[in-house]
Amino acid sequence: MGNILEVKNVSKAFAGVRACENATLSIKRGSVTSIIGPNGAGKTSLFNLISGAIRPDSGSITFNGTEISKKRPHDISRLGLVRTFQGAKVIRRLSVMENILLAAQDNPGDRLWRVLTPRVRKRFEDQAEERALELLKQVGLESFVDSYAGILSGGQRKLLDLARAMMANPTMLLLDEPFAGVNPALVEKLVEVLQTLKAKHSLTFLLVEHDLETVMNISDEVFVMAQGTVIASGLPDSIYENEVVIDAYLGSRRKSS
Ligand SMILES: Nc1ncnc2c1ncn2[C@@H]1O[C@H](COP(=O)(O)OP(=O)(O)OP(=O)(O)O)[C@@H](O)[C@H]1O
Ligand SMILES: [Mg+2]
Repeated sequence: MGNILEVKNVSKAFAGVRACENATLSIKRGSVTSIIGPNGAGKTSLFNLISGAIRPDSGSITFNGTEISKKRPHDISRLGLVRTFQGAKVIRRLSVMENILLAAQDNPGDRLWRVLTPRVRKRFEDQAEERALELLKQVGLESFVDSYAGILSGGQRKLLDLARAMMANPTMLLLDEPFAGVNPALVEKLVEVLQTLKAKHSLTFLLVEHDLETVMNISDEVFVMAQGTVIASGLPDSIYENEVVIDAYLGSRRKSS
């Protein structure tokens, strides 16, 4: 077992705004871990730091024992740490298959494609397409392969987004609000798909999510962020009862629900 990801004392400020302030957390290999916290708590910023989109002012981030805090996003995803984006967009006028293949072309190393002979390139493309089809099956979108991505519902777009992320062969996925804008029936389906992918590909999941019921159902461990820092962590039940957490976050959410 052990930890697959270690974030230690990571800080990042933007023109005086402290997006992350000594954020520290460890993620167990093979777990589903969630980060919750109010808007502006620094959750997406932490994902940006982990995935290499931005560099920390200080602190360290290790993935599988490798220091990644100064690496570029492509190099981090090549190590097997892949993220999805809050409110991820699909290209509506391309097919579902084209959307997913575009993601494959973004992959590192694919600059190589240009120097390949047409026949070798074709073979790579066929392999990518085969893999895409297999992943679309695993997320339950196979019947939409040739449909315009624009016809997909919010939840189906999240499924496409998952398949797209899986093209990079991750061992760990960072999902930023995977259930946002998804109707409740599809949330269940999405959870099922996450569990299937996890089992099939031995994945570790780190989620940022506001849907507390789902978070508490699926997480092995929950971290709570407020004002850029981790203020609590533990098993879902203990988080739900934690006074500090209730004050910072859950109180208002419980009242509103
Ligand atoms: N690129 C940036 N430039 C300036 N400020 C930023 C930048 N990115 C984030 N911030 C600021 O950092 C703070 C944390 O934002 P962040 O997006 O990480 O919060 P969040 O926890 O993901 O919130 P939400 O739940 O609303 O998605 C906010 O005050 C935000 O305005
Ligand atoms: Mg966010």
